[in-house]
Amino acid sequence: MHIQENISLQPYNTFGLDAHARYFVKVESLQDLKAALSLEAYPEKFILGGGSNMLLTKDLNCLVIHVALKGIEIVSQNENNVLVKASAGENWHQFVLWCLDRNFGGIENLSLIPGSVGAVPIQNIGAYGVEIKDVFESCEALNIHTKEIEVFTKDACQFGYRESVFKQGKKNQYVILSTTLRLTKTQHQLHMDYGAITSQLESMGITNPSIKDISNAVISIRESKLPNPKDIGNSGSFFKNPVISKIHFEKLKVNFPDIPSYVVSANEIKVPAGWLIEKSGFKGKTFTNYGVHKKQALVLVNYGGAKGSDILALAVLIQKTIQLIFGITVETEVNII
Ligand code: EPU
Repeated sequence: MHIQENISLQPYNTFGLDAHARYFVKVESLQDLKAALSLEAYPEKFILGGGSNMLLTKDLNCLVIHVALKGIEIVSQNENNVLVKASAGENWHQFVLWCLDRNFGGIENLSLIPGSVGAVPIQNIGAYGVEIKDVFESCEALNIHTKEIEVFTKDACQFGYRESVFKQGKKNQYVILSTTLRLTKTQHQLHMDYGAITSQLESMGITNPSIKDISNAVISIRESKLPNPKDIGNSGSFFKNPVISKIHFEKLKVNFPDIPSYVVSANEIKVPAGWLIEKSGFKGKTFTNYGVHKKQALVLVNYGGAKGSDILALAVLIQKTIQLIFGITVETEVNII
């Protein structure tokens, strides 16, 4: 285990922000992770995974522990299903491709989501009509205080929309070690309800899609709308899509007849934050080296050399403007550090 000093975190966050870690250690085994967490000389510690869902607004004056546990294994299988376990440090998309190569179905709609496997249960990642909870079996997490490994079932994770117990009641108490998913080997359940997927498959001339075709369609859609963090720094959707009351929605519809919506329950409506941001005039807005993405208003971008604090100020301005125009509170999806 090699502790480094004053390390730039730029390569470790998809926003590409040049915040520094006072101390930094990469851990590749459970033993090293436990040892790093036990280092008394560094009382404050910060767990860093794939860095795909955070905005670093300052330097981290503590020990940053970069979890790089690797490994994918088949836990068990029968004719129709397979349980696959992936370690937290595996790149999510590479893992999706690994599953597709073996014709394991269930996560093809989640192709090309940046980040590592460790973030998967924390965020209940989702896209194009699928959330990880749909295929989730369990995850192993290290209790930071007891240093014991605990297994969390789907119920124990308390999944919600981009939510889990790891962001709520058990925040900062666990390090995710691995995630186990229940995937299909035959009779794959294809999810094509999300409008763009059907039209994308049509434009690809595919009528009887395989899970690989769905993955390719999702990859095409994402590439056409969402900036690749390798080219333009970003953290995907910066805000969550807000849920408002039906009464509130009906009132808004009078002034904004084109407001898009998804029904959540009899009294609740979800409104796309991207639409609210676009209507507020921010889509494509650029401020020196950062701004709002031109093709998807929900994504804030760093064109190079921006400060996290500048991006945060823009996010707050967007939130205030939406509050003023629509009376809606939009919450950040990205963790502000
Ligand atoms: N829209 C606009 N302007 C925009 C963007 C969106 O008007 O600039 C409106 C359009 O009406 C569009 C609707 O918003 O039909 C929905 O847009 P989109 O299909 O792009 O999805 P989203 O609601 O903006 C969510 C997730 C994404 C996920 C996509 C596809 C959240 C916060 N975001 O975005 O997840 O990829 O659906 O399922 O739920 C992420 O979490 O980082 C992420 C990218």
